[in-house]
Amino acid sequence: MKRGFNVTPWDVSGEINYDRLIRDFGISKLDEKLLERIKKHTKDIHFMLRRKVFFAHRDMNWILDEYEKGNKFFLYTGRGPSGEIHIGHIGTWMFTKWLQDKFNAELLFQFTDDEKFLFKDKSMDEIEKWTHENMLDLIALGFDAKKTKFIIDTKNANSLYPVAVKFAKKINFSTVKASFGFTNENNIGQIFYTSMQSAPSVLPSVMKKKNIPCLIPLAVDQDPHFRITRDVCPKLGFYKPAIIHSMFLPPLTGVSGKMDSSAGRETSILTTDSPEEVKRKINKYAFSGGQNTIEEHRKKGGNPDVDVSFQYLRMIFEPDDEKLRQIYEDYRSGKMLTSELKAILTEKINLFLKEHQKKRQLAKKQIDKFLFKD
Ligand code: TYM
Repeated sequence: MKRGFNVTPWDVSGEINYDRLIRDFGISKLDEKLLERIKKHTKDIHFMLRRKVFFAHRDMNWILDEYEKGNKFFLYTGRGPSGEIHIGHIGTWMFTKWLQDKFNAELLFQFTDDEKFLFKDKSMDEIEKWTHENMLDLIALGFDAKKTKFIIDTKNANSLYPVAVKFAKKINFSTVKASFGFTNENNIGQIFYTSMQSAPSVLPSVMKKKNIPCLIPLAVDQDPHFRITRDVCPKLGFYKPAIIHSMFLPPLTGVSGKMDSSAGRETSILTTDSPEEVKRKINKYAFSGGQNTIEEHRKKGGNPDVDVSFQYLRMIFEPDDEKLRQIYEDYRSGKMLTSELKAILTEKINLFLKEHQKKRQLAKKQIDKFLFKD
């Protein structure tokens, strides 16, 4: 691991230095000027933007130029269905829904069942089960059925494959080797895969026979695919997709790496967890910025900047800036104990999951409305 951390679509590890990542990836920091520009259209500014949870972008100014000219964009994002959904994914998609609502945008949501089959030791049957399960989470988040389509790589190959091969023809093996560290041992499906993830970024343009701008919200691990996509798009006569990048919600154990349900179910909060499980996981694992004893904590105070419970509140579960500030101060000064901070987070998450799980049940009847029909 050069530089002490690694960020690729298949491995996020170490303590990520996001400023360094901005430089290495050649992406742009989201600055106040851009936030003001977004606010002109959205009226308010999502707390994930204010707090720079979404911290970087590619071509956001261009997408707003087009929008202001009346050339509306569609949103594209996705999920590799290899297991349960955790609260890190949920944060990225809550923000995507906000963009959908504010810009009245269509959303194309890709389920990359082929990717997970090619990269994980899982059967197609299992992946199909997760595709179905994960769709319930997406629907539960409240995406608008009239403006949202789920496209599944192996099921919608009729539409995706002809576009993917166009990308594939412009991507060399040496490019994917350099981007992802592939060797001669990688299977040939993996080598092809980036062209499948590229295809939805232009599919609406292909279908409507005119170029439509595309904005992709994602966490920054997925950016390397789209660097390739963006190189190829102009060669095929399409716009490059714009991108808005989120940081990772860390695992319960600390601010290194990302929450990842395949690598650590115990250190992730899953959308299907019961209230008792949430409480147990937070109490047992949530890395604390507090001191070793209550006396010491009262005297010296805690460190919210490394405290995972505080970070979850900041990144997802406490949208109110004033309430968050109060928690920050009380924890910093030692007035609030780690056990109290954990109790606040547990309650917030359980409140969210109670509603989410209800909606997830109801979602079972709605899947068909969301499916992309070739
Ligand atoms: P996947 O299934 O690994 O992740 C789905 C989305 O969640 C983001 N994400 C996170 N965000 C915050 N904190 C975390 N701990 C965290 N872990 C994952 C991912 O960045 C992603 O946005 N190949 C993709 C599926 C895909 C896709 C796309 C993603 C297909 N097309 C277009 C984004 C945009 C995948 O396996 O994502």
